[in-house]
Amino acid sequence: MKLFIDTANLKEIKEAQALGVLDGVTTNPSLMAKEGINGKDNILKHYVDICDMVDGDVSAEVISTSFDEMIKEGEELAALHPQIVVKLPMIGDGIKACKYFSDNGIKTNVTLVFSAGQALLAAKAGATYVSPFLGRLDDIATDGLHLISEMRLIYDNYGFKTQILSASVRHTMHVVNCAKLGSDVMTGPLSSIVGLLKHPLTDSGLAKFLEDAKSFNL
Ligand code: G3P
Repeated sequence: MKLFIDTANLKEIKEAQALGVLDGVTTNPSLMAKEGINGKDNILKHYVDICDMVDGDVSAEVISTSFDEMIKEGEELAALHPQIVVKLPMIGDGIKACKYFSDNGIKTNVTLVFSAGQALLAAKAGATYVSPFLGRLDDIATDGLHLISEMRLIYDNYGFKTQILSASVRHTMHVVNCAKLGSDVMTGPLSSIVGLLKHPLTDSGLAKFLEDAKSFNL
């Protein structure tokens, strides 16, 4: 399973990249706003800065909601860098735009997916990635992981190449469960990635090994 970081914070991206296991980055307008980035030139430059820091795909989300505007905005985003993936909302015009971009060789990520039916439509439109928001489903007492398993079944039934990009991941158990269910990618905060490192038995075991190694008198 690919590990993406869900942030627009360059320091966090750098830290995840330094670990050597980062496969890409996802952003959204809320994450960009959180970093205080504003003005079109600054926003576009920020996407390029992120692409220059990592090796994999970087999702940049359109803020248009009509087909014509999404095409214009998405083409501008895609032209920024070969690693850019155009992130489109799961609405009718977003699906039309997804089909247009996939027909024209531009990678897409259909976002704000909350049902298996939406996931089926996005795959039919040729999406490179589809982002089910599992944490936000959990927030409303609906099993987010169940949606991931439904998507895996549907995509496997028909051999869709679309990758399941589990999003709105909040913690390490979401990551582990996404991997168990066969999600192709998960995107989460830095804490959900570095949290996977931790186990008290690793720490106590290492401390004992280092203590015992003192007898080596190196
Ligand atoms: O990038 C979209 C998604 O990951 C948002 O997560 O935590 O705001 O629901 P969250």
